[in-house]
Amino acid sequence: MSVNWSLPFDERLVPSVGRRPVDVSQYVAEHKASLSRGTAFWESVASELDWKRRWDTALDSGSPPFYRWFAGGLLNASYLCVDRHASGARAGKPAIVWEGEGGAGGAPESRTVTYSELRREVESAAALLRDEYGVEKGDTIGFYMPMVPEFPVLMLAAARLGAKFTVVFSGFSSESLGERLADAGARLLLTADGGWRRGSVIPLKQIADDAIGLAPSVESVLVLRRTGKDVPMVAGRDRYLDEALRRVPAGASVEPEDMASDDPLFILHTSGTTGKPKGQVHDTGGYLTLLHATMNWVFDVKDTDVYWCTADIGWITGHSYVVFGPLLEGATTVMYEGALDFPKPDRWASIIERHRVSLLYTSPTAIRSFMKNGDSWVDGRDTSSVRLIHSVGEPINPEAFNWMHRHVGRSTVPFGSTWWMTETGGIMISVLPGRSMVPMKPGANGFAIPGVEVDVVDEAGRPAKALERGFLVIRTPWPGMPLTIHNDPERYKEVYWTRFPGSFYAGDYAVRDRDGYVWVLGRADEVIKVAGHRLGTYEIESALVQHPSVAEAAVVGVPDQVRGEVPVAFVILKAGAKGGEALRQELVLAVRERVGAIATLRGVYFVSKLPKTRSAKIMRRVVRAVVAGADPGDVSTLEDEASVDEVRDAYRQLKSEVDGTRA
Ligand code: WT7
Repeated sequence: MSVNWSLPFDERLVPSVGRRPVDVSQYVAEHKASLSRGTAFWESVASELDWKRRWDTALDSGSPPFYRWFAGGLLNASYLCVDRHASGARAGKPAIVWEGEGGAGGAPESRTVTYSELRREVESAAALLRDEYGVEKGDTIGFYMPMVPEFPVLMLAAARLGAKFTVVFSGFSSESLGERLADAGARLLLTADGGWRRGSVIPLKQIADDAIGLAPSVESVLVLRRTGKDVPMVAGRDRYLDEALRRVPAGASVEPEDMASDDPLFILHTSGTTGKPKGQVHDTGGYLTLLHATMNWVFDVKDTDVYWCTADIGWITGHSYVVFGPLLEGATTVMYEGALDFPKPDRWASIIERHRVSLLYTSPTAIRSFMKNGDSWVDGRDTSSVRLIHSVGEPINPEAFNWMHRHVGRSTVPFGSTWWMTETGGIMISVLPGRSMVPMKPGANGFAIPGVEVDVVDEAGRPAKALERGFLVIRTPWPGMPLTIHNDPERYKEVYWTRFPGSFYAGDYAVRDRDGYVWVLGRADEVIKVAGHRLGTYEIESALVQHPSVAEAAVVGVPDQVRGEVPVAFVILKAGAKGGEALRQELVLAVRERVGAIATLRGVYFVSKLPKTRSAKIMRRVVRAVVAGADPGDVSTLEDEASVDEVRDAYRQLKSEVDGTRA
C-alpha cells in the first residue's frame, strides 16, 4: 500500500449513482448556470432556512476580502438546529445518539437525546450561562471537552445567547489550550474531570488548570463529571456542571438571541506556517447556509437516515458535520466518544451495525487503519445499512478508497473525498449524490459545488493545464467563508488574499485531470497533515528550541502508511550538549507536552548544520526533499551544501537502525 501516488492517476470511472446521475458535461453546465446567477443562487439556498428577518443585501463586498453574507438578516443557530424540530413531527426523533467508549469488554454505554429533550437541555444550559455567569451576546466561551452529548448542548446554549464558542481539541496540550483561550479572550471555560480514550483517562481538568495560567481572561470554569475521578477545584472559580445546573429552575426558558447574519458564531484556531495559530472567525448566516446546502447535496440527508461523522467536535469537521449540519436538517447524528478500534478493531463496524448507520463520514487515516487490521473485522459485521460514504481531511489513496468501497459500500454506494478546510466552513469540492452526481474516481475530489468557483493555477495565477500541478484557489466569495482572523485582519488578507489577488489561496497543491476532476495533492506550505489534522511545523520547532540543549530545529513531514504524514525533527544542539537516545526521548516528550500527542515525533536526528539560505533561513524544502529521497532541486542559494549530505546521512543512519531493530 502506498500513501502517495503520482501521475497518471487511477482514472477508472465508477458509474454515476445517487439521486440524479449525470455525466461531466451536464454537471459542468449546471455548475456554470449556478455561477451565472451570482449571489441570487445562494439567496435561494438561504431562503430555505428560517430567518427571523430576511437580509437586505445578499453579499456586502464593500471592503474585500472582508465579505458579509446576507447583511441585515437575523437568525439564531440554536433556534434553527433545535427549536424548529423540537415541537413538530421530529419532537420524539433522536437528535443525538451517543455511544461511550466503555471499558474493555464492557457493554457500550449509550444515550439518546430526542429533539424535544435537546431543546430542554439547551435551554437549561443557556439559563445557567445567562443567569449564573452573566453570559451575553458578544461573549466568548472556551471549550475543552470530551465527546459527550453535553458538548454540543453547551455549544448550542452559547449560540442561543449569542456568545461565540471557541473549541480546543481535547488532545491539545495545556500550552496550546492556554494560547488559544487567551487569543480568543474566553471568559468562561467548559471542561470535564477527564475524558476516556482507549480505556484510560485524559486528565482534562489538570491540563485546563495549567492552561488557565496562560489565559488570564478565564474567570470561571464549569466542570462536567465524566469519569467521576477527583480533580482539584479552585474555590470561587470552578464548579461542577451538574451542581450548577441544579440551581436552574425546571422548565427555564431562554429566547434565542437575534443574531445578525454576520455576527460571529465561533472562533476556531488553525495551525499556520509561522507564528501563533490563526483564529478563524465564522459568521452565522453564511455558515449555516453552506451547511444546509452541503448536507443535502453531498450527504443527501433524509429523515430516515442515521448519520455518523467520526470526527471529534474539536476540529472543524465536528463543528460542521457532527453538530450544526445534521441538527440543522433535523437529522439523527451519531456521536462516539472514543477510539474507533477500541477495545477491538471492529468497534467502528459494530457501531454501524448496532445503530444502523446509513450515512458515513470518515477519514483516510481511519480507513487505512481499518484496512491494516484486516478484512475479517469488518466482514464479520453487518454494515448493509450504509448507503453513502464520504472521506475528508487528506487525500485518499485509491487502495484505501477501493477497500472501503468494497467492504462497506458493497462496491455500489456513492463515495467521495470532500475537499474543504477550517477556513471554508464547509465542503467546497465533492461529488454530489444528493443533487447531480458525476461518475466517481477513486482518490479524486471532483468538482466545486454549485455556487463556488475553484481553479488550479500556476505561479503566475494563470489556469494550469490538465495534469499540471498547480495551486488551488477559490475564485468567488462563498457563504461560510471566514469573517477574518481574530484580532488580526491584516494577517487574514495577507495569508489568503495576497498571493493571487482577488482569489482565496488555499495553500494546497492540486491538479485537474483530463476530465476536469480536481485532485488535491497535499499542502504547498509548511503545514503537515498528521492523521488528517493540521500541524504547523513552526509550532513543533518552537517547542523544540525551548529545550535547554537545542539551538535550532527543522521539522518536516515524512510519509506514513496509516497516518498519511508524521513529523520528524532535525536538531542542532547547543555547544556542550550531547545527543543520544535519552535526549531524543526527552525531545519527543517535550513536543508532546508543549503541542500535544498528535505532534509526536517519529524521529529526532542530530546534525551539526541545516540547509540554510545565506540569510540564515532554514530551507525546509531541501530537508523535505532529502527525507523523501528526492532531488533537492536548486540548491544554489544554500549557504553550505555539505549540510544536505549531513541531513541525508543522519536520516539514513537512524532510519536503518530503527528499521533494523524492528525486523
Ligand atoms: C487541509 C485542511 C476540513 C476538514 C478537515 C481538515 C486537506 C482536507 C481533503 C481531501 C485532499 C484534503 C487539505 C486542506 N484536505 N480534505 N478530501 N482531499 N486533501 O481541515 O485541518 O483545516 O485542513 O486538509 O490539505 O488544506 P483542516
